Amino acid sequence: QARKLFSYNIVLIGFMGAGKTTISDYLSTMFDMRLVEMDQEIAEREEMSIPDIFATYGEEYFRNLETSLLRELQTGKNCIISCGGGVAMREENVTEMKKNGRVVLLTASPETIHERVKDSNDRPLLAGNNSVEYIAELMEKRREKYEAAADVVVQTDNKSILEICEELISKL
Ligand code: S3P
Repeated sequence: QARKLFSYNIVLIGFMGAGKTTISDYLSTMFDMRLVEMDQEIAEREEMSIPDIFATYGEEYFRNLETSLLRELQTGKNCIISCGGGVAMREENVTEMKKNGRVVLLTASPETIHERVKDSNDRPLLAGNNSVEYIAELMEKRREKYEAAADVVVQTDNKSILEICEELISKL
């Protein structure tokens, strides 16, 4: 009976391909916690894929959906929230996620990220260019904001899912 182990939400942030979806999925099973994968939730509500939302309504529209979903989620507790990679870029989002949540930043090297995302078509920001160089550049631009938002940082290169989860839990 692992339910209600945490009195707060566990919020995963980090770059595309850092492992947010995989790790949050595993954690929610491990602790029998509710999981909200923000991209998935937004795509379901809009009845549209993330690339289609970007193409049809533009990035700003998508960012506003993220902000309002995040706000809605802070009313609950004991939930795993897997954020899209851009969520922590808005300061108001970071304030929101910290209200009821412990914020976990997952990191990986640009090479690892490249390996993880190179075959996927569902990331509009990497649709034109997903080279290691471009990933490194975008990561560097975002680094400061990710780090400022994080309560806990877990580096994911060359670790198993279980190792990452154990490290994460031990640092919460
Ligand atoms: C984005 C990351 C994506 C998705 C969208 C924008 C970003 O989520 O929200 O394509 O700005 O980093 P993942 O981090 O789950 O790939």
